[in-house]
Amino acid sequence: MTLKRLAIIGSTGSIGRQTLEVVNDLRDYKVVALSCGHNFSLFRKQLMKFKPDYAATLGDAVYLREEFPETIFFFGADGIEEMLEAAMPDAVVNGASGAVGLRYSLKAIETSKRLCLANKESLVCGGKLLIEKAVQRGVEIIPVDSEHSGIFQLMIGDSRPEKIFITASGGALRDYPLEQIEEATLEEVLKHPTWSMGKRITIDSATMVNKGLEVIEAHYLFNYEEKDILTYICRNSLIHGGAIYRDGVIKLHVGEADMKIPIAYSLSYPVRTYSSPHIKLDRLTLSLEEIDYRRYPALKLAREITGVPSKQIAYNAADEVAVKYFEKGAIKFGDIFRIIYRVVEKVFEASPHNFDEVLEIDRFSRKLAEREVIEL
Ligand SMILES: NC(=O)c1ccc[n+]([C@@H]2O[C@H](COP(=O)([O-])OP(=O)(O)OC[C@H]3O[C@@H](n4cnc5c(N)ncnc54)[C@H](OP(=O)(O)O)[C@@H]3O)[C@@H](O)[C@H]2O)c1
Repeated sequence: MTLKRLAIIGSTGSIGRQTLEVVNDLRDYKVVALSCGHNFSLFRKQLMKFKPDYAATLGDAVYLREEFPETIFFFGADGIEEMLEAAMPDAVVNGASGAVGLRYSLKAIETSKRLCLANKESLVCGGKLLIEKAVQRGVEIIPVDSEHSGIFQLMIGDSRPEKIFITASGGALRDYPLEQIEEATLEEVLKHPTWSMGKRITIDSATMVNKGLEVIEAHYLFNYEEKDILTYICRNSLIHGGAIYRDGVIKLHVGEADMKIPIAYSLSYPVRTYSSPHIKLDRLTLSLEEIDYRRYPALKLAREITGVPSKQIAYNAADEVAVKYFEKGAIKFGDIFRIIYRVVEKVFEASPHNFDEVLEIDRFSRKLAEREVIEL
């Protein structure tokens, strides 16, 4: 059997580590390229185990180059792109975090036949650019986000649903008294009730910025207007998404809250080769709740700007900046939304035509966000 050649961007992150676990189980893939940011000690272990032909790090890790002479190393963000060009893999998993992920997604489309997309910021910041480029080149974009993977699976072999919906757990503060949310601490916010994920996405779950980004992601992936992408809270995170049909039928995508399942599906699609235990059907409780926008104003704001690329870029950039300050203890939890709102309000409506224009709006928005932090 010929092994499929796989590259993973962000192999030291939550998505990257779980992708390697899946690859270890599936055994249909050869990891040909790995990249990390700065976690060199974990990266070293991954290099020892998977022995990729190519590797890239954001900083220059000279000692790794010396220790692994069989691997060809690249450095910096340009280096990650060069790694993809050298490896020409069959599939790329983009598990980088942040808007920077767009440049790797665009490069993955030039160098590979399938992009397994975890980096939702790629679609939030460059949705139209990315989708058009993938269509032109005949490259598949398979979503890794569990909600979008669910919708993607529900849409196969059926009429187009009238509406779709994605769910949210509600994050760590879903039952906090409204008036206390503003002051919630980092420790409280990081206690996610159902999913185990990276730091930023866990904080973004508590603000529901994450769900806002996902509504925008669904808009570009599935070509629905914002009003036809519904959102509900599912407390146990067993319902990931649903498709609502004109004949009154609603199909649900149900499964364990385990990212390895959608990661594996994005790799093996159109078949299922990954094994994972089922939910015990006699403990299956399915219920959805309306979302209270007073508790999650960031989701409402995301809905208002869906389809306006410059504001989407600003929304994400301001959140990235604000979350960093919140992690450092420099701002309050409630300030995260305040900063995003003010930045989004100040950025003009525009549609960037290429990555450089996206970057320009991203940089401008980050500067505005930094200023908002000072002026709080
Ligand atoms: N975690 C989840 O369960 C989950 C679920 C659905 C979607 N997603 C999405 O998947 C993406 C990754 O999330 P995550 O939780 O895995 O994040 P994470 O744990 O923070 O990992 C991010 C990875 O990207 C690397 N990285 C950081 N900055 C980079 C840069 N400028 N260029 C290249 N690589 C960089 C990091 O390297 P170092 O750590 O070595 O510095 C790390 O390997 C996000 O867009 C997130 O929204 C995540």
